[in-house]
Amino acid sequence: MTTALSIRPEQPGDAAGIREVNLGAFESPIEADVVDRLRAARATQLSLIAEIGAELVGHILFSEVTVGDAEAATGMGLAPMAVMPEHQSGGIGSALVRQGLEILRAEGCPFIIVLGHPDYYPRFGFVAASRHGITSEYDGVPDEAFMTLELTPGGLEGVSGVARYRPEFGVAI
Ligand SMILES: CC(C)(COP(=O)(O)OP(=O)(O)OC[C@H]1O[C@@H](n2cnc3c(N)ncnc32)[C@H](O)[C@@H]1OP(=O)(O)O)[C@@H](O)C(=O)NCCC(=O)NCCS
Repeated sequence: MTTALSIRPEQPGDAAGIREVNLGAFESPIEADVVDRLRAARATQLSLIAEIGAELVGHILFSEVTVGDAEAATGMGLAPMAVMPEHQSGGIGSALVRQGLEILRAEGCPFIIVLGHPDYYPRFGFVAASRHGITSEYDGVPDEAFMTLELTPGGLEGVSGVARYRPEFGVAI
């Protein structure tokens, strides 16, 4: 199934397909709305899509996250990520994560933040953000679900405090 998988950056004209994937993967339109709001705000982001032939089957978004207050450090937050239900557990999500991390590393992004399943993200090198003194801005986030990855050497040195996503996320995470 994944033999014809290809991953590429979002292009103009992909917005409707990306919305479909997010609506298909999540139970509510919250994530699809966040993606649309970030695009409308022209936020700095990396948006990748996965296609099988001409069918858009997956999407991943990274957008800016700041950590700390005075002299806040800026990295990228991974959210949301979505794969069409009929294509899940076939490696598409992993391929999107790996491609995204590779691009952001090449661009010099120092670190990534993710709020997600603690059984899933450690395979890409994510560790509990609390290890680095980084905490979530949201109440009630389980410690092990809030994770970070140092992407460039020393990228998390001196980085600690509250991590804040773009305002377009609202209370979505
Ligand atoms: C999470 C998601 C993007 C992963 O994509 P995928 O193509 O299924 O992922 P892969 O095939 O690379 O990896 C499959 C692994 O993800 C796990 N997985 C699937 N859905 C998951 C979920 N919602 N949370 C955590 N892990 C999940 C599977 O158990 C599987 O684990 P295994 O390899 O140990 O068996 C996809 O399942 C999805 O769209 N889920 C619904 C939306 C969602 O919860 N997004 C993540 C939060 S932003």
